[in-house]
Amino acid sequence: MEKHKELYAGKAKSVFTTDNPDRFVLVFRDDTSAFDGEKKEQLNRKGMVNNRFNAFIMEKLEAAGVPTHFDRLLSSTESLVKKLDMIPVECVVRNVSAGSLCRRLGVEEGQDLNPPTYELFLKNDALHDPMINESLSVTFGWAKQEELDEMKRLTYQVNSVLKSLFADAGMLLVDYKLEFGRCDGRIVLGDEFSPDGCRIWDRETRKKMDKDRFRQGLGDVIETYEEVGRRLGIHFDE
Ligand code: C5P
Repeated sequence: MEKHKELYAGKAKSVFTTDNPDRFVLVFRDDTSAFDGEKKEQLNRKGMVNNRFNAFIMEKLEAAGVPTHFDRLLSSTESLVKKLDMIPVECVVRNVSAGSLCRRLGVEEGQDLNPPTYELFLKNDALHDPMINESLSVTFGWAKQEELDEMKRLTYQVNSVLKSLFADAGMLLVDYKLEFGRCDGRIVLGDEFSPDGCRIWDRETRKKMDKDRFRQGLGDVIETYEEVGRRLGIHFDE
């Protein structure tokens, strides 16, 4: 599938049109950013690792009945995806307290959250992705109530699939962010699922194995992403 025009360049991925109007190419780059783009670095192999990681997870989710935009891998850093009409709302589920939840509510990191929490954020860099709710989403037209209901159902379904996938490989799925879009009247999982958009800890040692290694300057960022992948059975390029 030929890449045509670059439609959009995000902080870590670019989206290209193709000769098929219903398909885009996602290019996973080595660019890594945190704190709304304030901290930026090129991390060698990250594009390849996240592309392969995302393909593996999207295929697991699709097999479990979660509709995703993933079509197929095109190369080590490129995937073909369905074109979605993206909804500018980020859905976050947390199984263990960490990150902005601790900062906002003053709760300690590492508490089991039972039941897992569910939060919505507006995808808007200029406003630093403010927390929103379903009422605001409906009123401002970001998503309709039926769409929000489906996004919530799918986000929790992803939790039940992935929590056990990571647990079986000796890891804790602490939290994650999902983005959805519309395709042929359905709500479909878009964007990516990789250690850039979730928190994963070793179950025994609680070692951080996700983008917090970059955010917090802990080192070995991509080596650790690859370790997560290897534990799940993902094969990366040499
Ligand atoms: O920062 P916070 O604790 O709210 O993030 C919750 C989860 O969502 C984390 O796994 C984080 O990596 C992810 N996230 C993301 N992109 C954002 C905001 C959060 O991938 N813009």
